[in-house]
Formats: sequence, structure tokens, C-alpha cells
Amino acid sequence: MAKTLATCLETGIGEKYGREEVTGTSIFDPVLCELAYIWFSPVGGTILDPFAGGSVRGIVASKLGRQYIGHELRQEQVDANRAQGSEICVDELMPPAWICGDSRTIDSTCKDVQADMIFSCPPYADLEVYSHDPKDLSTLGYQEFKIAYFEIIKKSCALLKQDCFACFVVGEVRDKKGNYYNFVGDTIQAFKDAGLHYYNEAILITAVGSLPIRAGKQFSASRKLGKTHQNILVFVKGDGKKAAKACGLVEIDLSVFESEAIAGA
Ligand SMILES: C[S@@+](CC[C@H](N)C(=O)[O-])C[C@H]1O[C@@H](n2cnc3c(N)ncnc32)[C@H](O)[C@@H]1O
Repeated sequence: MAKTLATCLETGIGEKYGREEVTGTSIFDPVLCELAYIWFSPVGGTILDPFAGGSVRGIVASKLGRQYIGHELRQEQVDANRAQGSEICVDELMPPAWICGDSRTIDSTCKDVQADMIFSCPPYADLEVYSHDPKDLSTLGYQEFKIAYFEIIKKSCALLKQDCFACFVVGEVRDKKGNYYNFVGDTIQAFKDAGLHYYNEAILITAVGSLPIRAGKQFSASRKLGKTHQNILVFVKGDGKKAAKACGLVEIDLSVFESEAIAGA
């Protein structure tokens, strides 16, 4: 499943719609997406995404039998997502839905939503600037960004059912002087302020690409380490065990452990 879906999303969408031409933004990892949904949301559940960006999280949710609601500021991105979604998810019971608007109003635009999971990849401060719209968080200075970011997280979490998970994929960003903002720490704080518990952290290793070429020069001039990871942060509203139970059973291939046990015996 992961391979089929990932291949479809990485090639089909990229070739047909030329994501760089549509938005110039990064593409979310569909395999990570698939695992997050399977592990942290129930089949048939509702996924709320306050920073939808591209179509990946919506299409993967639909293919896995989840109702995705993505909130996104830019109309052109929403239009591109709807075109991709209606083509790729034409036969799905729960096609993804995108709402266009500033997520600071998510409490009114999604007032009837009772989400089973919050899942998003927010703007990493001003690392990628998505538009010139002053409502776009990526255009704001970090202090203003933080206020809006905390507000959106709080309002989104209010739409999450009790005993459910929230997952944000984030990464550290440097300010103009080259120091980290502590964006990962601020994200954790925003969810704690919204009443959730910090539950899991995983590290997503990202492609090394041209980093070794760039990192050497940067390191000798400033001792800044090259970064090839992002942080997957998981929070729970209420009780983790109840939230896990609500997600249902996860397929775990116990034969791996069994063969290791036999080998170790
Ligand atoms: C999800 S990321 C985009 C790139 C990303 N890697 C992805 O998953 O597609 C951030 C998104 O947040 C959107 N955004 C910024 N400010 C917003 C706001 N106030 N309300 C809703 N969406 C906003 C941006 O337009 C951008 O598409």
C-alpha cells in the first residue's frame, strides 16, 4: 500500500501538475503520512489540517478511508488540490475536502467539526514564504508568527475530540543572525498551552542531497552543523491509552521478533 500510494503521489502529481509550477513549495512525504494516519487515527475518522499546503495529506487520508478537512489560505493551492483530489479520489467513499481561509478563523469555518486527529505541517516560520498575503504566517516576523501560530493550534485543538492524537511535522529554523528560533520547542509549548500532552517524538531523516557540499563551507565559517532531519511531534488530548484504543489494532509483523528470538535462543 505504502509503495503504491507513494509512487502515485510522487510521480503522478509531480509530473501532471508540476508542483513547483503551482506553488513552489515542498511536497509532504506520503509514506510518513500513511504511517501517521494508520498509527494515530481510526478508519472512518476525521482528520483536521490547519495548514493544508499541497494535496498529499488529503489524498492519502481518502485512500485510507479517513475524512480529511484541510484549511489553507491560498486559493490557487486549494484549487490545485481540489483538481488533484477529484481525479485521484474519484472512487473513494470519503474524498478530501479543502476549505480556503485564514486558519485563525478555523473555529467558525469548521465549527461543526469533531476531529479524530489533527495532522499538519505548518509554515516553518519564514523558511518558505508562500505568498504576499499579510495573513500568511510565513510573511510575519517571528514574534507575530508565534502569536498567530499559537492561536491556530489552540483553536484547532478545541475541535479535536477527547482521547485523540495530534501530530505536527516541524523543523528548526534559523533567524537572520543564524541562531535557532526554537520553533520545535515553541510548537510543543503551543500544544501544551492548548491543553494537550506531549506524547511522542520521532526524527524523520530527510534527503542529504547537496548538503555535504554546502555544509563544509558553512561549518568552517560558523560551526553550524548541517541538518538532515525534521521532528515529528505527537500530542494527545486526554488519555494516551484510550486514544490508542480508539485507533484500533495496528498490524505488526511479529514474525520478525519471533525469528530474532529463535536466533537469540
Ligand atoms: C503545509 S505548508 C506547505 C508546504 C508543505 N511542506 C506541504 O505539506 O505541502 C504551509 C501552508 O500553510 C499555509 N498558510 C500560511 N498561513 C496560513 C493561514 N493563516 N491560514 C491557513 N493556511 C496558512 C501556506 O499557504 C502553506 O501552504
